[in-house]
Amino acid sequence: MIKEARYYKKFNGLSRAFKKFLLTQTPLKKMINSGVYSKFYSRAIRKKVRKLEPSVLQIENTNLCNAKCVMCPHTIMKRKGKIMSQQEFKKILDNVMENYPIKRLTITGFGEPFVDKGVIEKIKYAKDKYPQLKVDIYTNASLLNKKNADDLLRSKIDRITFSINGTEKNYRKIMGLDYENTKKNVLYFLNKKKQMNSHILTNLSLMILKENEDDIKKFIDFWNPLTDSVRVYAPSNWAGTLKNISKRNDFRGKRWPCSGLWSQIMVDVQGNLIMCCRDYESKVKFGNLLKEDVKKLRESRKFQELLKKQLNFDFSSPVCCTCDNSFDSSLDWIC
Ligand SMILES: C[S@@+](CC[C@H](N)C(=O)[O-])C[C@H]1O[C@@H](n2cnc3c(N)ncnc32)[C@H](O)[C@@H]1O
Ligand code: SF4
Repeated sequence: MIKEARYYKKFNGLSRAFKKFLLTQTPLKKMINSGVYSKFYSRAIRKKVRKLEPSVLQIENTNLCNAKCVMCPHTIMKRKGKIMSQQEFKKILDNVMENYPIKRLTITGFGEPFVDKGVIEKIKYAKDKYPQLKVDIYTNASLLNKKNADDLLRSKIDRITFSINGTEKNYRKIMGLDYENTKKNVLYFLNKKKQMNSHILTNLSLMILKENEDDIKKFIDFWNPLTDSVRVYAPSNWAGTLKNISKRNDFRGKRWPCSGLWSQIMVDVQGNLIMCCRDYESKVKFGNLLKEDVKKLRESRKFQELLKKQLNFDFSSPVCCTCDNSFDSSLDWIC
């Protein structure tokens, strides 16, 4: 089986990759899953969460998408499609920024961000009002025409992930889009970025699927010289929805509290504060940031109960009970 990997040219976020290597590929793995270690480590986690405040915000600017990826539950999502207005976006961002020391904003949710024609204006608003904030986006790049690419390069965005989950041989089968169009768009962006000597970080990502397994080396060889990093990784099962998709078993060990519940804030296109990015149907809502203060919602009984359960290694809450994401989240608790 092909292993998950990340190939860097510029070092951004290497520390997590390094920790992951230490804890999953070396003898430390055995120690971390032992009972004695868990006891001390759990105590350290409890101490740490007392001071932990959210530093990452994810806002879903749209839940509409023009692709049909085989590994993405977007195709079965029942939520009503919407594009968030500029006014709503500003209100949500300001609400969170006034309450928490947010360092990173991802403007992407369960959809293709460029279906929203106002996405660049949203990036500009965030960067102009909060210059220290690192802003990033995930896109399938199929709608990244020359105008969008030029505007994006001028937008002061910090990082872009292009999700290209195949090569000419299998891309259409996997994503339902035209490979040549996407390739042309990404190459135009990367060339222009080079000409402009832009500092925007670019990442190319591919999910390891049975449809593309034989072509992964080709993908890496083609894109790695052109971009700051290339990531190949195993898909998640989106909280149990995609039954036969996950290949994450090689990292399975003990399950740890999910650090994202403390450090991240996820807001869906309607403005709902939801528990995390795995909850693509917004099943578990804590209130709406267009009407209520984010801090009040995070301090509510419902939210605090969820955190308490996780700290007690009780993963029976909806969404958590079928999620395969937190098996390697012991990584996140290590200073
Ligand atoms: C849900 S998409 C939304 C943004 C955009 N449409 C895109 O494809 O980049 C965000 C990221 O999730 C990834 N993704 C889709 N299905 C996944 C799965 N089963 N496991 C892990 N990541 C997945 C996509 O490849 C993409 O990089
Ligand atoms: S991975 Fe992105 S492009 Fe593919 S269906 Fe999901 S949201 Fe759309």
